[in-house]
Amino acid sequence: MKRAQRIILTGFSGTGKSEVARLVAERLGWQAVDSDDAIVEAAGKPIPAIFRDDGETHFRTLEHSALRELCSQPKMVIAAGGGAILSAENRQLMAQNSFIVCLEARPETILTRLRPQFETDPVARPLLATSDPLSRIRELKSFRQPYYALADQTIHTDGLTMEQVAGEVVHAWRQLSATALADEGRVAALVAAPSAREADAPYCQPPAEAGAACVVRTSSATYPVFVSWGALPDLGRRMADAGLASRAYLISDSMVHARWGAAAKEALKAGGFTVAWHVVPAGETSKSLDTAAAIYDWLVSQRAERGEAIVALGGGMVCDLAGFVAATFVRGLPLVHVPTSLLAMVDAAIGGKVAVNQKEAKNLIGAFYQPRLVLADVSTLQSLPPRELTAGWAEVIKHALIMDEELLRLLEENADAIVRLEPAVTAAVISGSIALKAAVVSEDEREERGRRTILNYGHTIGHGLEAAAEYTGMLHGEAVAVGMTGAARIARRLGLLPPELAERQDALIARFGLPLRASGVDPGKVMTATALDKKVKGGAIRWVLLEGIGRPVIRHDVPPKLAEEVVQELLSA
Ligand SMILES: NC(=O)c1ccc[n+]([C@@H]2O[C@H](COP(=O)([O-])OP(=O)(O)OC[C@H]3O[C@@H](n4cnc5c(N)ncnc54)[C@H](O)[C@@H]3O)[C@@H](O)[C@H]2O)c1
Ligand SMILES: [Zn+2]
Repeated sequence: MKRAQRIILTGFSGTGKSEVARLVAERLGWQAVDSDDAIVEAAGKPIPAIFRDDGETHFRTLEHSALRELCSQPKMVIAAGGGAILSAENRQLMAQNSFIVCLEARPETILTRLRPQFETDPVARPLLATSDPLSRIRELKSFRQPYYALADQTIHTDGLTMEQVAGEVVHAWRQLSATALADEGRVAALVAAPSAREADAPYCQPPAEAGAACVVRTSSATYPVFVSWGALPDLGRRMADAGLASRAYLISDSMVHARWGAAAKEALKAGGFTVAWHVVPAGETSKSLDTAAAIYDWLVSQRAERGEAIVALGGGMVCDLAGFVAATFVRGLPLVHVPTSLLAMVDAAIGGKVAVNQKEAKNLIGAFYQPRLVLADVSTLQSLPPRELTAGWAEVIKHALIMDEELLRLLEENADAIVRLEPAVTAAVISGSIALKAAVVSEDEREERGRRTILNYGHTIGHGLEAAAEYTGMLHGEAVAVGMTGAARIARRLGLLPPELAERQDALIARFGLPLRASGVDPGKVMTATALDKKVKGGAIRWVLLEGIGRPVIRHDVPPKLAEEVVQELLSA
């Protein structure tokens, strides 16, 4: 097996790509090139001028030709521009005989490293030309993270000197590049993932809408998600900006309406809307066809017309119910989600699944129906019952574990502040979590491509527990927390997940006040319910397991005996 002839360094600005490329080249006796320099040379003008005069598309064309040229030469260390890896064509070039290393750094580190350059030459670093550069870096970085994750190796540069980073790169190239290149599926995986459609509709791009935390792009709709502490007063204005007008039909439950109804109505009026509202009893039993029918009657009595929007103000129950009504009434009214529970913010309001329950079968009757916009006011979580809040963190932790080590670290380092709902950091982690779910949904809107499956991490045992407890004893997030603990134990025993990562996961779950085990549930019932769960295909359960942080795998070959043992352990008091 031969080592790679080239090393390509990818990663966000400020991770030290150019300097590390130079140092690595020195050590190997190779040549170092910065792809941005090659572009500047070809265009005969600086990059900001290319963007200004010729537009981004032209810049990307130049970038591709520069990469093609560089990737035709051996013994090269190429520092690639931060956005180069976003294009499938570039990834195809990069995959051939080159070892791809991603240099990582925390947003705070990036900011510290970029600031001096910004102060001397603001034009060269437009990234920082904002009142809140750290959030901007976080946003952009989380958009690009799925692409950076495709690299053959990732090196965390925080706390290392550039010399040390260069040493790590050389070491990785020596140890790993031959094996990486020999992997038959590598090129296809690099080119296809994370989205086959990305070439014409990149979801991983900066939000188009000012102030949006992210944009969901599916084949049926593109819509912004606004997330901030105190976003609610902007609701009407955001809706007007989205092209909605005249009347809004606010649907909420009794608890949420009592606390946030007035503020929502005021915000709608301020945006020029007349408002009618309908309040259903709080609780899952309202998520039914009967309640939907009552809402249809109410809409008829209000003479609701096509084009007038339904505003769902509440937790996941309201999002699903009002969403279902919006999808079906006169074959579809525009829908706006204003999630007020943590679960609804990071999960139910994102992705376009709407449904009502039928007797014992949850979500049996439903549709895929994307909202026109989502507005999450993180400050509304202050009135959420504490147990509901705690349970919601399970999905946030899940998103971080399956997709984003950066978010995981943010959760670990700020757990106490987040649990206390300190505004800035809480809004940042919720935003990050939403962006991750949005990215998955953008790629696999209708659960057809398999990508959405990774969101079921912790849900196999989790759903089993919920069903065995007959949906009364445990909240969904609590069951998912125990389910993730079970999945980690299974992965550990299969030799997939290093023990220290399983411990890291346990520690984080516990710090957010979530359970690692459950009691009072019959393990036999859990196993039966697990086997009946919809993720079973062709007799074998599809387990989502972790090989590392951000590295989920789907396995059909978990021995039933092992799963049973683990469930037994989780349930023994
Ligand atoms: N569509 C999806 O993709 C999706 C994903 C996950 C869950 N769900 C659905 O979401 C539902 C669960 O969501 P949930 O946990 O938000 O339940 P929920 O909507 O019933 O809310 C939980 C409780 O919190 C109250 N509440 C919500 N926000 C509040 C606030 N800010 N202040 C005070 N009280 C508040 C509600 O009134 C309710 O009593 C389930 O029906 C589930 O099937 C859907
Ligand atoms: Zn869930």
